[in-house]
Amino acid sequence: MAFKVYIPASDMAFVEALKTNGLGVPKAFHWIVARLAIARSLQLPQFPAEDLAKPTVQESGREIHMEQLTGENSPVLDDYTDQFRLMLSMYHGEDLFKDRDRFAALLQKHLQRGIGEIRTSWHAGNDFHDWLYHEMFPERAAPAEAGGPIDKEGSNRVRRALAEAGVSAAVESAREGPRLTLYDLRLSSADDLIRLRRDLEKVQFELGLGKALMLTNPMGERRIGLHVPRPDATWWTPPASKIPEWVREDRFRDMAVPLCAGVDVGGDEVVFDLRDAVHLFVAGTTGSGKSVCLHSLLLSMLAGGRDVQLCLIDPKEVEFAAYKACQSLWRPVATEIAQAAEMLGDLIGEMDARQKILSELGAQNIDEANAKGAGLPRIVLVVDELADLLMQRPDSEDSIVRLAQKARATGIHLVLATQRPGSDIFSGQLRSNIPSRIALSVRTAQESRIILDETGAERLLGKGDMLVRLAAQDAKRVHGLRVEAGDLRSWM
Ligand SMILES: Nc1ncnc2c1ncn2[C@@H]1O[C@H](COP(=O)(O)OP(=O)(O)OP(=O)(O)O)[C@@H](O)[C@H]1O
Ligand SMILES: [Mg+2]
Repeated sequence: MAFKVYIPASDMAFVEALKTNGLGVPKAFHWIVARLAIARSLQLPQFPAEDLAKPTVQESGREIHMEQLTGENSPVLDDYTDQFRLMLSMYHGEDLFKDRDRFAALLQKHLQRGIGEIRTSWHAGNDFHDWLYHEMFPERAAPAEAGGPIDKEGSNRVRRALAEAGVSAAVESAREGPRLTLYDLRLSSADDLIRLRRDLEKVQFELGLGKALMLTNPMGERRIGLHVPRPDATWWTPPASKIPEWVREDRFRDMAVPLCAGVDVGGDEVVFDLRDAVHLFVAGTTGSGKSVCLHSLLLSMLAGGRDVQLCLIDPKEVEFAAYKACQSLWRPVATEIAQAAEMLGDLIGEMDARQKILSELGAQNIDEANAKGAGLPRIVLVVDELADLLMQRPDSEDSIVRLAQKARATGIHLVLATQRPGSDIFSGQLRSNIPSRIALSVRTAQESRIILDETGAERLLGKGDMLVRLAAQDAKRVHGLRVEAGDLRSWM
């Protein structure tokens, strides 16, 4: 006699939806769904209820022959009947090789329970294959690179706080960075992402944090990172002495001017090429760490072993005092506004002269010209407090805009810092020609938008916590290095 199992009629609508919206194959065989359901049921530790009644003939929506379900004696399918029997025998502690009826009855129970499990935990609209992978292989689903063992207590707190805010999510891994704990969350649905973004303040309140939580960009199917700041006393900030080590690493050898901004949220060094960044705008509220950030960029230029000449404008007269004796100055540090204006004029003259050299050599840019023997160093103009310069010499904006528009090919780069990231200082002309931005902490989301074209910097922790958005890339969170006055003196 041929054995069969049944998908109950009451489950058929769901099974059809699963085939269409989940598997994406409306014509998929029912036995495939039945196998998945049995596998899901076998993951649960407790036995399916004994009184889970087999559907009556009227209720049986779809019959599935053993030939299909286990491949028993099938001319086309592989025969897994023994494996099925073995799995169920072990699960139930019974010898199901001897009792075919009992074997079929248990398969029926697992099939019904499994469909019920899938129905309650998978939501149409979520990727079924991704859901399945996570359900079947929870230990493999947390990616290895996401890091270390889950800190149970912290994860539980996060999970509770999310639940209080109405967000359904699993904490897949947690990792301690220099200033934050990074939680990888897997959200149950797209609606949970909307709730999480909308109610981040609530989650923060539930966690008892005085400081802002931040989310990363989604990292693939329903996964997102949550940055939970730790108390300042537990932070570790790498010192400036790391810069020469990092910028000279072999993997950065092809960079024209490697710059070290700091470390990422996981503690790895963040080094980028000024050639790719082209020009940088650095902004943040007073005390957020702009000057310290400029120092780490300047020390990178000095330590990188490249031919770089510096033009420094320092209307406050304090920040760049340490560089007065630096060997790599293109002009003396400008502290007077008149000196600064003169320096800008000289730079425009240099840019024009370089353009001539480039066209004589038939070169598109400084690298091609140098390959033909031009021997031109890159020149970097760094202004600490652009607002002071622009307010005292409004005409200098034209010079800066000209340089921003045209200097790139000639190897002249701009790094402009200000604590006033208003649209009066960072005007449309400058914005469109300065592709890379560093935002340190700011007061409002609006200020963050002016600097980065996106919000987020209003949630930063201060003291060199920053969002770095290089030309055409996504913003990345970086913690700046600690550069102190003593470091500067010892380097010049
Ligand atoms: N990466 C860092 N690590 C640790 N502390 C930092 C870091 N960056 C800045 N700080 C702390 O913040 C203080 C202020 O930094 P900084 O002088 O760079 O601010 P600023 O943004 O230039 O302020 P202002 O607009 O007033 O010039 C530093 O003296 C230091 O104590
Ligand atoms: Mg400063």
